[in-house]
Amino acid sequence: MLAARARGLGTAWTTLHLVYEKEVADILGIPYERYTQIALTPIAHTIGTDFKPAAREPLESVTHWDHW
Ligand SMILES: Cc1cc2nc3c(=O)[nH]c(=O)nc-3n(C[C@H](O)[C@H](O)[C@H](O)COP(=O)(O)O)c2cc1C
Repeated sequence: MLAARARGLGTAWTTLHLVYEKEVADILGIPYERYTQIALTPIAHTIGTDFKPAAREPLESVTHWDHW
């Protein structure tokens, strides 16, 4: 993903397709019985190159230690 980014390409880590892992394996020719998919990385040219860090909530607001 970093290598793609360095070349002006955008990617996204996705896993929602795993609900249809078998169907995706059939479409892409992945040997379903031998390989377990863990993620799919769409890759494409981006609209513009004005990349910047995404807005994030403070880490403390989403981190819990030893209890919720
Ligand atoms: C484990 C994992 C699985 C993800 N699966 C999906 C997915 O199936 N579909 C999707 O649109 N985004 C998915 N995302 C979110 C995107 O990869 C990305 O993190 C999100 O668009 C937020 O972008 P940002 O990190 O630049 O804010 C997943 C993220 C993680 C960490």
